[in-house]
Order: sequence, then structure tokens, then C-alpha cells
Amino acid sequence: MPLRVLAHPLAAHILTHLRDKTTKPATFRTLSYQLSLLLAIEATREIETEAKAIETPLEPLTARVLAHQPLVVVPILRAGLGMVQPFTDIFPDVAVGYIGLERDHETAKARSYYCKLPPLAGRHAFVVDPMLATGGSAVQALNIVKEKGAKDVRLVCIVSSPEGVAEVEKHHPGTLIHTAALDRGLNARKYILPGLGDFGDRLYGT
Ligand code: PRP
Ligand code: URA
Repeated sequence: MPLRVLAHPLAAHILTHLRDKTTKPATFRTLSYQLSLLLAIEATREIETEAKAIETPLEPLTARVLAHQPLVVVPILRAGLGMVQPFTDIFPDVAVGYIGLERDHETAKARSYYCKLPPLAGRHAFVVDPMLATGGSAVQALNIVKEKGAKDVRLVCIVSSPEGVAEVEKHHPGTLIHTAALDRGLNARKYILPGLGDFGDRLYGT
């Protein structure tokens, strides 16, 4: 299965505090940043490098730098915004696109309300959304990003459900999903169990 679960003691530690219902929004935002940074590093493990000739203070050296390949990070609004800054901090040339999707509280179907994307043809794109529940939002976002020609599109999530992973695999077979946790499943209201509740509400204190 094209699912990569981040296995790192620090990731487990941060995620436990994110799940804790007593964690307040300010701490929640910091923890989201930290965990998303670990995920961003993991999700970009295979990006290309090229040789660069430099001189150390002691001798000439040909070493590796990132190849020119502007990356694109695409958060699914609104909760995905909590995962953007790690990408922009470590990849200064990254472009950011936005896809606004909101789940209906009754049906759990995602409704599109905003879309603003940079050129995507031939570029590596990372769709970021902390929660992969039914997978409906992720599939819609992947449809858009792939239609616009992005290559090697990856999905980066904090918590995923088996149902969401299966839905993405059904509509976008082979798409790599990077996640910090694969949880047990969904409840009747399509929330992830054990999960961490409504990520957007906890991130923004709403
Ligand atoms: C949440 C979450 C995902 C979506 C996941 O967003 O951030 O985008 O639900 O659910 P799915 O896999 O069943 O589609 P929500 O719709 O609550 O909007 P928000 O980010 O504005 O809070
Ligand atoms: N969206 C969330 O924020 N949390 C869930 O558990 C499911 C969807």
C-alpha cells in the first residue's frame, strides 16, 4: 500500500499531545508546526539534487545541492494552513496554492469554495491536510492538482483512517500518502477514532 507512516519517537510524542483534548490552540499550533516539519522532511526525501563545486576553507569539493525544481505545497483550507509554514521555511522557493473545501456537517461530503493555484505542470506537488477521514476532500484536491499537470503528487496528513486511505487508493492508485498515524476507523459522524477531534477548530480556537 502506498502509505508511509512516520516512525519517529518525536513524532509519536508530538502526536500524543495533539490528541490530548486539554491541549490549547496556541500549543496545538506549535505542535502542528513541529509535526508537519518532520512530515515535510520525510515527504521530500526523494527530491532531486545536483552537483555543485565549492571550496571549503581547506580544499575544493563537489557536493550536492537541491536541483532547480520549484516545489508546490497545496493546503486544503482551512486546517491544511497549519501545515504550510514548515514547507516554506525549509524550501524558500516553494510556491503555495490553496484549495478551499468544507465538509457538510450532516453528509460529511466536501464542498468546494475556493481555488487559487500557481502553475503546476511538471512540478512536484504536496497536498497537505491534517485529517484524512472519508478521503472525500483529499480525492477532490488530488483531482484538481493532477488535472493541472502536477507530477509526483503526494498527500501529507497528520492522522489518517483506513477508509480514507482506501478512498484515495481507489481514485488515485499509487499516490503516496505520508502520515504520522493510521488510526482505527471512523465514527458514525465520520470523525476519526481515536483521532484528535476537529483539527481546524482546535487549530483556530473556533
Ligand atoms: C476537515 C479536514 C479535512 C476534512 C477531512 O476539514 O481538515 O479537510 O475534514 O475529511 P474527509 O476526509 O472526510 O473529507 P473541514 O471540512 O472540517 O474544514 P476546515 O478545515 O475548514 O475545518
Ligand atoms: N475532520 C477533522 O478535523 N477531524 C476528523 O476526525 C475528521 C474530519
